[in-house]
Amino acid sequence: MNYLDRNEFNFEPSQKVLDAIKNFNPKDLCFYTRIYDQGKKSVISVRLSELYGVPEEQVLLGYGGEDILKNAVHYFLMNSDLKTILIPEFSWWYYNRIAGECGGEFQMYPLHEVGDTFAYDVKEVIEYTNRVHPRMLLLASPNNPTGNSLTPEEIGEIMENIPSDTMVLIDEAYASFITSDTDYIAPLVNKYQNLIISRTLSKFYGLPGLRLGFGFIGKGHDQFISYINKYLGYNRFSEAVGLAALESDEHYRRVADEMDWGRKLYKKELGDLPGFKVYKSVANFILIKYPLEIKEQLQKAIAAQDYKIKFMSDKGLESCIRITLGRKEQTQAVCDTILKVYNDSKK
Ligand SMILES: Cc1ncc(COP(=O)(O)O)c(C=O)c1O
Repeated sequence: MNYLDRNEFNFEPSQKVLDAIKNFNPKDLCFYTRIYDQGKKSVISVRLSELYGVPEEQVLLGYGGEDILKNAVHYFLMNSDLKTILIPEFSWWYYNRIAGECGGEFQMYPLHEVGDTFAYDVKEVIEYTNRVHPRMLLLASPNNPTGNSLTPEEIGEIMENIPSDTMVLIDEAYASFITSDTDYIAPLVNKYQNLIISRTLSKFYGLPGLRLGFGFIGKGHDQFISYINKYLGYNRFSEAVGLAALESDEHYRRVADEMDWGRKLYKKELGDLPGFKVYKSVANFILIKYPLEIKEQLQKAIAAQDYKIKFMSDKGLESCIRITLGRKEQTQAVCDTILKVYNDSKK
């Protein structure tokens, strides 16, 4: 089966990752880590602190980005009279699910379709946040499934103009696909105590099965940090593999560059067909609008090829598919299948 439905990684792990797995000492699993004797959470939070220039105390670790998001949403909604989380109109279904799990409510702010992309209207996000006064504002950059993102300046503008008791969580699961520049993160989390930026090794670093997410939080959240912390340490195998992935940027950047071939193919082959629209892609997936009348045929044809892609069901995106950017032959196969189903429908 070819899985192109959940933004996973259809390429090879880096040599450093393979070596770390091969050379891992199984006896390390017989003991908890001792790094907490030095007042640190993990070897990986120490490394992330060096790489991102954020003090280790402000580095968050979790079982994937999902764990960081869940812990933050649960903690901040449960410890406040404000129970609302404000999320983008089209976004990962998980955001409102976790708010619901702890008795919170969600409201949505709009995203706007502009040309071949979607966009945040920063002024409107600020206006919604002041009007709703949520406990949390969720921004995803790039957003899944629409792919739009925020610049550091736009993040700063939002932070300057919203209530200081609204915690802002920026989900940057896909951010490394846009740029390897991470220098903007430390100044932002140092300046704004109500900011969390969450990242993961699941997307750019291609290790969704490892379940390792990380994040950075503004100063002064000792209670939340102790809430999310694991007192007996983190999975030592994941730590070793994660460290190797963080040293493999060159490999993963090459893979990310390869994905551009797929973006161009979809655009070239489908972009001008009636009823289709290929949205701008900046992450490891691409959103494509297609004529809804071919949905059933397309679902059958894709399944018959042993492929999975995501047929969107979100209100407003029912006529879209989201496809993970995979290897060339996978992209070619999916693109050919879409074309064939479309051409057959015209006969
Ligand atoms: C927008 C977004 N954030 C976070 C995640 C979480 O990924 P993980 O828990 O594997 O880090 C995903 C996974 O698909 C995602 O799409």
